[in-house]
This record gives sequence, C-alpha cells and structure tokens, in this order.
Amino acid sequence: MTKKAWGGRFQGEAIEWVDAFNASIHFDQVLIEKDVAGSIAHATMLAAKEIITEEEKKQIIDGLSAVLDDYDAGRLDFSVQHEDIHMNVEHALIEKIGDVGGKLHTARSRNDQIATDMHLYVKEKVYEIIESIETLQETILELAENNLHCIMPGYTHLQRAQPVLFSHHIMAYFWMLKRDKDRFNDALTRIDMSPLGAGAISGTTFNIDREMTQELLQFSDVYQNSMDAVSDRDYIIETLSDISLVMVHLSRLSEEIIFWMSEEANFVQLSDQFTTGSSMMPQKKNPDMAELIRGKSARTTGALTSILMLVKGLPLTYNKDLQEDKEGIFDAVTTVKGSLRIMTGMLETMTINEAVLEKTVQNDFSNATELADYLVQKGVPFRKAHEVVGELVLKCINEDKYLKDLALEEYQRHHEAIQGDIYTVLSPKTVVDRRNSLGGTGTEAVKKQLHIAKNTIKK
Ligand code: ARG
Repeated sequence: MTKKAWGGRFQGEAIEWVDAFNASIHFDQVLIEKDVAGSIAHATMLAAKEIITEEEKKQIIDGLSAVLDDYDAGRLDFSVQHEDIHMNVEHALIEKIGDVGGKLHTARSRNDQIATDMHLYVKEKVYEIIESIETLQETILELAENNLHCIMPGYTHLQRAQPVLFSHHIMAYFWMLKRDKDRFNDALTRIDMSPLGAGAISGTTFNIDREMTQELLQFSDVYQNSMDAVSDRDYIIETLSDISLVMVHLSRLSEEIIFWMSEEANFVQLSDQFTTGSSMMPQKKNPDMAELIRGKSARTTGALTSILMLVKGLPLTYNKDLQEDKEGIFDAVTTVKGSLRIMTGMLETMTINEAVLEKTVQNDFSNATELADYLVQKGVPFRKAHEVVGELVLKCINEDKYLKDLALEEYQRHHEAIQGDIYTVLSPKTVVDRRNSLGGTGTEAVKKQLHIAKNTIKK
C-alpha cells in the first residue's frame, strides 16, 4: 500500500472500497489541465516571493508539464488511493522529480486548489456555451430572413389566435437566447475570480502574492475573504441556473418542432439526419433529437436543484459534501453544449411546408380580431364589435364555413358598416402586414427586428 499524503497521523491500513467511496478521481480528472495551470502559477509565485528557489520552481514546472504529457499520452495511472486530481498529480510529480515535488503544496491547500480549478473550468465552459448560443442565434436569424413570406397560425392556449410570420415566431427564440447569453456574461463577473492563496480556510503565514497568481491565471478579480473563497459555490449554482434556463428555452422550441412535425400540423419536415425511424412501424419518422433535448432539460434542472440542496445546510468553510458539486455541472455542460449543437443542425436542415402553412392560415378564424378592429375603425365600440363578430363566427361554425366564405349581404345583415373591402382586410397576409407596431409581426416591423437582432451578434 502506498503511504497517504497525510500518513503521518494515521496508523490503520486503508480499506480499498472506503478509498473508492471517498475518491473523486474518476470524475475530477477532467480538471487536470486546470490543476496543472494553477500549480504552475502557484510555483511561479512561490519562487518570485523566494519561498522556493528558482531551481526548485523550474524542476516543479518541468515535472508538471511532463505529468500532463503522460496524461495526454494515456500513460498516467490514476489511483483511488490518491483520492482526487490534486493528489494524483502531486504523487506523479514526486515520482518524477523526487522530494522537491513536495514543496509545491507550500502555502496552499486542496481547498483553495479545487476552488481554483473549478473557477478556471467554469469560466472556460461558459465562454464555450456563449459561442454555441451565438451559432444557434445565427441559424435562427438566417431561417427568419429566408422565410419572411411564410405565414403561420399563432397560438394562445394552443388554440389558433392570430396569424403571424414564421420569422416572427422563430425570432422569439433568438431573443430568449440573447438574454441567456447576457445572463452568462453577467455571471462571468463572479466566475472570473481567483480563490488561490486562501489556503485551507484562513490564509497563510507565508508572504504570498495572491494578485500575482490572479494575474498569471488571468482572473479579473480576487476573493477578499479566504473563508468565502474556499466555500463559495454560488458561481456554480448561478451557472447551472443559467444552463437550466437555456435548456428550458431549447425544450420549448423542441416541443414546438415536435408539434409542427406531427401529421396533424405538418408545418415542417426535419431532415433524415436529425430524425429516427421505428424498429417496428415502417412509416415512422420520429423527431427523437427534439424529444431528447426536451428530456435532457430535466437533467440540468436536476443538477441545479441538487447543488442548491447540497449547499443550503453547510457551515463555513470547506466540507467534503462539496466534492459532490462537480458531476452535476460537468454533465450539465456536456448536455447544454450538445443540445445547442443538435438544435442548430436540426434548424439548419429543417424545411418549411409552405403549401400546408398557406392552406392552414386560410382556413381558420384567426382573422376574427381583424374583423372586430375593422368595425371599431368604423366607429363601433369594441365590445359591440366583439359581439357582432362572435355571432358571425358562430354562424360560420354552424354552416361549416369561414369568415372569408360569407357573402357581403350576410355580413351587412349583422352590421351595415361592413363593406366590400372586408375580404382583403381578412386575408392572412393583410392581417399580418398591418401589425407594424414596434415588436409586431408585420413584415416591416419584423425587418426592423431582424436588423436590430443582427447588430446584437456582430462581433
Ligand atoms: N476532492 C476534493 C473536492 O472535490 C478536493 C478538496 C479536498 N479537501 C479536503 N479538505 N478534503 O472537494
């Protein structure tokens, strides 16, 4: 049995399955690059402050790079006896360069070390997520620009409400994603902070320079309280919350795509690459990817709930419970990046069934508000107009027709203000195009919207 790093205090032999329970190496090994970067910055600072010699620093840094090379080449053996990424790396370092490797942990604890690794990790991943969001936004923008002529039913309560431009509908997701991106950028001010040098809990007696390691690791700020630094997990919670929200947005869009793709709606077709068949029913083409995104949003929300529960009862400062903060965020990062990528590909290759949409919007009552507004413009009070149109709709339902099918005399029997221009007024195209209020679905308003949207993603 290898001696533990804390072997001096202990006499009993370790039990392997207890070590296995205690260990985090099977999941925190993804942090190895961050761990080595943190250690190199720490060693550089220790030498600058003459806590170790320049020669010792050089040996440590060369040794750490060699450990990383071994890892990249698949030559590094991790062991549960060394518990986590920090001690596995330290053990490999000491094996390579001897006792001098033991000097690296001067003025440092695993408590500030793991906090540093996680800050570096979350920061990197948040930048990657922001990039994936922008790629999806670009795809949405393109889809909106290329389909400005498509009119579709707009829904409330999943009942046809008013016709809208497909571009307008899809652009709603662009703006959700923009706010998601803004949230991540805002979170970065709290993620981008260095806890290194906080020690186990209270700082250190060594004359360290925390601002130097902060700069070496390119953090914008530094924790001002060592106890806060080693026990803070707010930034992970916040990131998980932001991830959960992106996933909720993607889940809503997925749900819509699933509906649009149903035989009942048949508004769009997804490409073969982003659908699957059935092992039994030969006719099936299933929107599995959209369903999976919808399903996976449960995982990220689960991770958020789980870390909120994890932290809520913990006294300051570090408690081993905090080792449980990692798998949730690691999984959530993979999930959100994967989902954004899939959604982008799915939308890029989706085709709109224009003929179906055109027929659909001709055959419903989503122009009823327009008729009411028409009467209002002729001086009829809105309540009265609402009642007249309601009666006309009922008449149509009873006679199995739509408003466009009523003869002018029938209209005039209900209200004399209705004139021959009503048929143009009620056409879906007119209905949509007259809605040019700021943020409305009229073509002119949507064009303005697209222009403003484009400016938000210009790099
Ligand atoms: N593997 C530990 C974690 O992930 C690192 C910190 C351990 N610190 C300690 N005092 N046991 O939280």
